[in-house]
Amino acid sequence: MSKITHNLPSEDMVFVNRQHLVNEVLETISHHRFWMIILWGMGGVGKTSLALHVSYQCLQRKYFDAIIWTTAKSYELGARGFKQTYERKQDRVVLTLNDLFNTILRVLGEHQSIRLETNKKQARVVELLSTNKILVIIDNLDMIPDQQAAEIVKFVRYSIPTQSSTAILTSRYEIANRGEYAFEITGLDIQASIELMRQSARQVGFDVIMNADTQILEAIHYATGGIPLAIKWVLGRMRRSKRSVYDVLDELVKNESDVLEYCFKQAYWNVSRDARLVLQAISPAEKPLDSSQLTNLTGLRDYQILDAVEDLLPMSLLEKDKLGRFKLHPLTKAFARLELAKNVDYEREVLRKYNSMTV
Ligand SMILES: Nc1ncnc2c1ncn2[C@@H]1O[C@H](COP(=O)(O)OP(=O)(O)OP(=O)(O)O)[C@@H](O)[C@H]1O
Ligand SMILES: [Mg+2]
Repeated sequence: MSKITHNLPSEDMVFVNRQHLVNEVLETISHHRFWMIILWGMGGVGKTSLALHVSYQCLQRKYFDAIIWTTAKSYELGARGFKQTYERKQDRVVLTLNDLFNTILRVLGEHQSIRLETNKKQARVVELLSTNKILVIIDNLDMIPDQQAAEIVKFVRYSIPTQSSTAILTSRYEIANRGEYAFEITGLDIQASIELMRQSARQVGFDVIMNADTQILEAIHYATGGIPLAIKWVLGRMRRSKRSVYDVLDELVKNESDVLEYCFKQAYWNVSRDARLVLQAISPAEKPLDSSQLTNLTGLRDYQILDAVEDLLPMSLLEKDKLGRFKLHPLTKAFARLELAKNVDYEREVLRKYNSMTV
């Protein structure tokens, strides 16, 4: 039996399985219903880990002849701040369509085609993807500059008329067209969060968490909203600094918190000014708000609120409940509240309106 060619990075030791989601993605892949699968959701929610887990499942089940992992991310956030990943050294980093072609060709052992001029190279890549069963992962598309990202998406979307190959894209932003398969990834539920904490603690022998009351673990879950990156950061920070859980949870949501910057800064500055004002205005709310309350709080007009909401939803900055009311994820709320506080006059005005609205 021939071996499946791949360049997958190794999986983290601890992976809390999101069985339902994993099964759904695997089913979509195995039925070849869509050539392009998009996993999207806020920063640190676990898109890359899920894509990697699914890729290993595909490897095990021999769904493909080759699996090619590419990513635009070359750094990660740990308890001691940002650090470089090994991705660049491993030639997995892709920032342009040409990088993508080169990585595909390299992993498939077609080194001679790397020197071809662009059109011929593209034709060769398309041929390879059409005549072989190949899984291509493009991870962290959100880190690729807009124009290059658009070129990559266009290639994936239109240039590959194939039944055999599949692409998985991960992104902080919703990029699916109608008819494409997109899964929104949200925070872990409370059981999964606690399992992640217990397993991670056991892994490194961190007895404070191993022996902690469930109440403490629940407090970490609620503060982080089940975002694995934030949970791991809190645990790492507690272990290194030997500070109490409540001190570390304070640090998590303070100004210039690494986690908040990492998860939100880019998305926040990518939306319109009105969208930022809506986000700030909603941040002190204890309960979900409807659009007329947002109009009142922000002083914007109805259509401006609609536009702002349309801007925020696909950036995973805003959540909509079943009744069509809006709320924020706990970490987004913390980030937006700090932004509101920087906007002194607006903050005063917004808080005054909250008092009179009693929301
Ligand atoms: N299901 C999971 N079980 C255990 N750990 C997880 C899980 N999902 C994510 N993590 C951990 O949380 C951290 C962030 O996860 P990951 O990089 O997959 O998130 P992401 O959504 O891709 O983030 P970004 O938006 O920055 O790309 C990583 O350290 C990862 O190992
Ligand atoms: Mg990622």
